[in-house]
Amino acid sequence: MSKFITFSSILKKVVIAITGLSLFLFLIVHLAGNITIFTGNPPGQDFNAYAHFLESFGILFTVAELGLLAFFLIHITSALYTNYQNYKSRNNRYAVSNFAGGNSKKTYASTSMVITGIVVMAFLIWHVLQFRFGAYYETIYPGVNGGEPVRDLYRLITEEFSNIWVVIGYTVSLLLLSLHLGHGFWSSFQSLGIYGKNFTRITYSISYLLGTIISVGFLIIPIYIFFIN
Ligand code: HEM
Repeated sequence: MSKFITFSSILKKVVIAITGLSLFLFLIVHLAGNITIFTGNPPGQDFNAYAHFLESFGILFTVAELGLLAFFLIHITSALYTNYQNYKSRNNRYAVSNFAGGNSKKTYASTSMVITGIVVMAFLIWHVLQFRFGAYYETIYPGVNGGEPVRDLYRLITEEFSNIWVVIGYTVSLLLLSLHLGHGFWSSFQSLGIYGKNFTRITYSISYLLGTIISVGFLIIPIYIFFIN
């Protein structure tokens, strides 16, 4: 079996793991920042001040955004290419492919990584168009930006999440995201060669728990905004 594993396929797995773990970290930071949606008086002040603070880094913020985009693109293209190569070599060797069963971690979640990944990618394009490139409203708070106008992203969020179809779209996407994160986090350690009987058992459970906590954390936002409006 090992002779089939080439250096380049190991390298691709390491690249998928490192970019995946970095995107995982981005999600934790993004979720932490979004908690300001729940604080602030008047509502939205903390969130708009936080978004303005990030944008005030100017060119550095743009560089960080481009870096994030590059990580997403590298992660997606490497994953799709690796999957395509696996599919090709499997078809060459077996007439029928089955689930591994037993204690194997090759569950439905792992075999559906590509499907959940594609849904998350479609969600991301929608999400970024909706908020990063969405309607540009402005507002003024005496204590923020020296009383000068700042972007009112809170108003945009409130408008978008008042639509039940948007909330349903987010709910489906975030539930699939939890599966993608759960399996992705665990398998990143495998790809980086960090495993062992107990370690693998523990990281497997923690991964799905973390994936669920992050997804539910995000999911609370559209549901909360929908119900307070
Ligand atoms: C459901 C709760 C979420 C809310 C309320 C939210 C809110 C936002 C907002 C307001 C922006 C625009 C920021 C700006 O222009 O400064 C943004 C950007 C972004 N969000 Fe989210 N987000 C949520 C969930 C997610 C999830 C689950 C992901 C990833 C799977 C994600 C990935 C991104 C990315 C990649 C950007 C672009 C970052 C940038 O260019 O600054 N977001 N989000």
